[in-house]
Amino acid sequence: MARLKVGVLISGRGSNLQALIDAAADAAYPAEIVLVISNRPEAQGLAHAVRAGIAHRTIAEPSREHFAAQADVALRQSGADLVALAGFMRILDTAFVEAWRDRLVNIHPSLLPAFPGLHPQRQALAAGVRFSGCTVHFVRSQVDSGPIIAQAVVPVHADDDEALLSERILAAEHRLYPMAVRLFAEGRLGIRGDTVAIRGSASPEIVLFNPTEALASTSG
Ligand code: GRF
Repeated sequence: MARLKVGVLISGRGSNLQALIDAAADAAYPAEIVLVISNRPEAQGLAHAVRAGIAHRTIAEPSREHFAAQADVALRQSGADLVALAGFMRILDTAFVEAWRDRLVNIHPSLLPAFPGLHPQRQALAAGVRFSGCTVHFVRSQVDSGPIIAQAVVPVHADDDEALLSERILAAEHRLYPMAVRLFAEGRLGIRGDTVAIRGSASPEIVLFNPTEALASTSG
């Protein structure tokens, strides 16, 4: 089976990259990582690529256009079919986003369209939401926008701070990103305007309450 070739762009820790590497370690997983690009030479995530024997490079171009042009060449040379942004903290040149349209995905630690941009976990706490989570979406030129592929929901706890909520969301990200890439690799995603149809998908039959229903019914 030919596996989908994925290029991953990172800027830092690279825990989502590692989750994708772990998924791809299973020969039955329909995608493999062929190239990791960092815009920062000190990105910890590069070590994950080294350890896994994956081709990697740093492109630290100060200009957005030059970064995009070099990344584009490297990705094409690698044979990448899909580009996955995983903690990539630079805004991408519009020409790059258009060149990879519908083959460029991102993970964001909120339930988009809520809380795009920086510090989404801090934004969620400030807004007092009872649930947050993470989103994998196709990338469009506006930051953290584009057709949504998959989301995972986590509760916000009363005593959460930014670190605790981030950790809970990150654990969900590590499951969600490999799942979303798998759906892409299996050719199950159909983009219809601003939304994505998933062939053969099933949605959970659940309702979550936060605080729990039981708490409300026993308090009085
Ligand atoms: C993740 O929370 C991701 O959703 C966001 O940046 C963070 C990157 O973490 N875009 P890591 O580098 O994958 O550990």
